[in-house]
Order: sequence, then C-alpha cells, then structure tokens
Amino acid sequence: MAKKPTILVLNGPNLNMLGTREPEIYGSETLGEIETRCHERAAAFDVEIEFRQSNGEAEIVGWIQAARGSADGIIINAGALTHTSVALLDALQAAGLPVVEVHLSNIFRREEFRHKSYISQTASGLVCGFGGVGYGLAIEAMAGLIAGGESGH
Ligand code: DQA
Repeated sequence: MAKKPTILVLNGPNLNMLGTREPEIYGSETLGEIETRCHERAAAFDVEIEFRQSNGEAEIVGWIQAARGSADGIIINAGALTHTSVALLDALQAAGLPVVEVHLSNIFRREEFRHKSYISQTASGLVCGFGGVGYGLAIEAMAGLIAGGESGH
C-alpha cells in the first residue's frame, strides 16, 4: 500500500495556552482538542498529520527545514510570529512545499498590526475566523493541493 501523504501542522507562540487564553477571541477549545479534530479530519481525507507547537521561532524554523523531503505540505498557525517573522517566511519559501495558513480569529477584524502576515506571501490559501474548525478546513484544502500536485514555491 502506498504511503499516505504527510501534513505537518505547526503552531506558534502562546497557542499552547488555548482553552484559557482570551476565550472570547480564541474560543474554549484546547490545543489538544484541536489536535484530535485534526487527526479525525486527516483520517477522513486519507492523509497523516504531525501536529506540533513551539513558543520558539528557531525551533519552528528547524521543523520547516526538516519538512523538506519528509512532509508533503505544511499547515501553519504561526501566532504572533505571523506578523513579524521574515525568518519563517524564508524557511517556508525554501521548503518547496504547499502551505496553508490558519488563524483561529479573523485577523482582519482585529488590530491593524495583525492585518499584515508574512506567511500569506508564501501560502496557497488562508483560513481565519472559524476557531478550531479552520484547522479541519485547512486539512481538507491541503489534501486537495497535494492530490493536485501542488509543489509550493
Ligand atoms: C492567531 C492570531 C495572531 O494575531 C495572534 O498573535 C495569535 C493567534 C490566531 O490564531 O487567531 O497568537 O494566530
């Protein structure tokens, strides 16, 4: 049997605090519950996921570098690094894999500094504003990109 495509699902700073962190903005779901949701959606679309979170930019850059050759796509909620990190953008561009960007909140309805995303520059698409549901939508979208042979930049 052919190996299932692998999607790396990366989460940035403070997303480990979901459930208690500003629930009026981010909802009451914990990151663990979102991970469970992702595994369910992955099974439905016949893909594997690897789900990770880090508060450190360097660690996330390392994971993106390692994804080249070991993963077929990257879904990323970079948290606040979305709005600041050229290093993450560079790593994603170098990875040569399709990228889907996710945010729990609708970043365009919030403070102006959240309207700018470095990740969007390299992403095939963006899902935001649907809480944890957005991760499931991103997995569906990514499964389609991989099946369609999208290779990223
Ligand atoms: C976020 C939005 C970011 O602006 C914020 O810094 C986060 C979470 C979201 O999922 O809505 O940490 O990425």
